[in-house]
Amino acid sequence: MLIGVPREPSGETRVAATPTTAKQLIALGYDVVVEAGAGEAASFADEAYAEAGAGVGSAEQAWAADIVFRINGPSLQEVDRPQDGSVLVSMLAPALNPELVDALAARPITVLAMDAVPRISRAQSLDVLSSMANIAGYRAVIEAAHHFGRFFTGQVTAAGKVPPAKVLIAGAGVAGLSAIGAAASLGAIVRATDPRPEVADQVKSLGGTYLPVEVDEQMVSSDGYAKTTSEAYDAAAARLYAEQAADIDIIITTALIPGRPAPRLITAADVAAMRPGSVIVDMATAQGGNVEGSVAGEVVTTGHGVTIIGYTDLAGRLAAQASQLYGTNLVNLMKLVTPGKDGKLILDLDDVVQRGITVARDGEKLWPPPPVQVSAAAITPAIAPAAAPVAAKRPFPVAAKLALTGLAVAVLFLVNAFAPEPIPRHFTVLVLAVVIGYYVIGKVHHALHTPLMSVTNAISGVILVGAMFQVGVPDTTVRVLATVAVLLASINVFGGFAVTHRMLSMFQKGN
Ligand code: NAI
Repeated sequence: MLIGVPREPSGETRVAATPTTAKQLIALGYDVVVEAGAGEAASFADEAYAEAGAGVGSAEQAWAADIVFRINGPSLQEVDRPQDGSVLVSMLAPALNPELVDALAARPITVLAMDAVPRISRAQSLDVLSSMANIAGYRAVIEAAHHFGRFFTGQVTAAGKVPPAKVLIAGAGVAGLSAIGAAASLGAIVRATDPRPEVADQVKSLGGTYLPVEVDEQMVSSDGYAKTTSEAYDAAAARLYAEQAADIDIIITTALIPGRPAPRLITAADVAAMRPGSVIVDMATAQGGNVEGSVAGEVVTTGHGVTIIGYTDLAGRLAAQASQLYGTNLVNLMKLVTPGKDGKLILDLDDVVQRGITVARDGEKLWPPPPVQVSAAAITPAIAPAAAPVAAKRPFPVAAKLALTGLAVAVLFLVNAFAPEPIPRHFTVLVLAVVIGYYVIGKVHHALHTPLMSVTNAISGVILVGAMFQVGVPDTTVRVLATVAVLLASINVFGGFAVTHRMLSMFQKGN
């Protein structure tokens, strides 16, 4: 089958296939034709597509293909462009564009909406909303930094102290988490809030501080997306934003409830409370905006000097990478629907992912799809214990603790009273080492277990040397114990090398 990649509408810098992804599609058995100049704005020349094995043709040729790849959905005027029996793959926002969905469903074509991929782990590699939001969150920080007249990081210089910038991220979904990571890596103090409490650990792991909105309810997501917040939540959140506005230099808002207008989080009074020179990036202007006074696609500066950025094309501002990621999402889709790797698209509507994105099939409207149940809250236990000390996982009964301590003291006493020298001395050292080691290692954060492992490897090295000295002594018991010590310590040392080698290779390019 032939895949066509027409140009995007004016103002769009991204393209639905890059030379790299075109090559991957060809490897799956497809032919590819790209409209001349389609990749120009993303710095992909026609020659690069030709070198990758794709054809470069006219708009008519690209639209007449068996499968048409676009980033933006067709306009109502373009609905007739795909040929009968073809498959159109693009973002469509079907929940917000019922008229377009009806017009497309009236055509004998199949329509796949890439922005309707269900948020389940198996579908992550096709999730264009996530890959674009990730880029957009990063870019939002870069735009904010560009308009902010100061450092993000704090500095102590000979000429004086520079405080770090304070950044508040409202909404810690994909874009928000990406923005937290980018702002924290630039050295800012980052705070973030979100009605889904399960994101607290993710915020922390990226270097931010989670600000909870104190209400009795807990939002639990059944599909990986947020639900509308309650009045009580909104009132408490408004107090939080009002408090923060006076202290914060930069606010980035990413709050979204799919299929609904963006929740209004930051009021004109909050904006007025910010210091002159502060910057707000409202990422949700395309859905009506999270910030009072933001304008879609524009930069507005208030009378007292607060800049509000309302760009709707943040991902497109990193056009080459955004195209590459979008194109890779499409390649992953094609891998899913090309089971024979023979260039033949076979749609399986029993598969929840394929069903989820199928808006229409051969003239039959299939939107909306049946809901997919996936609880983001369910993953919380997998994340939360990571931050807790190991000992906190399984609380040990107090009675058992006391009994064990009593037993240990009794054994220590007996050994010291009756065993011949030097056993009591060595035994005391061993007991102290076990107790101190237990408490020290138990308090080490999970994230530091790898460096800890290298330290235990060093200890094993010491054991190894000591045990090798003892292997030659005439006492059989000592010889057996020394041999066992050599064996166990060797497993730790060589096992440690093997694991370290495996971990290092994960960071090497090309793996
Ligand atoms: P997401 O669904 O992953 O995250 C949205 C987050 O908002 C969720 O964590 C949700 O819990 C939170 N939220 C919902 N109601 C809230 C409230 N009242 N207060 C605080 N947080 C609330 O969505 P994603 O992919 O991160 O996108 C975020 C926004 O960025 C969307 O509006 C999206 O359209 C926009 N976006 C904008 C781009 C641009 O160029 N401006 C590019 C890509 C995405």
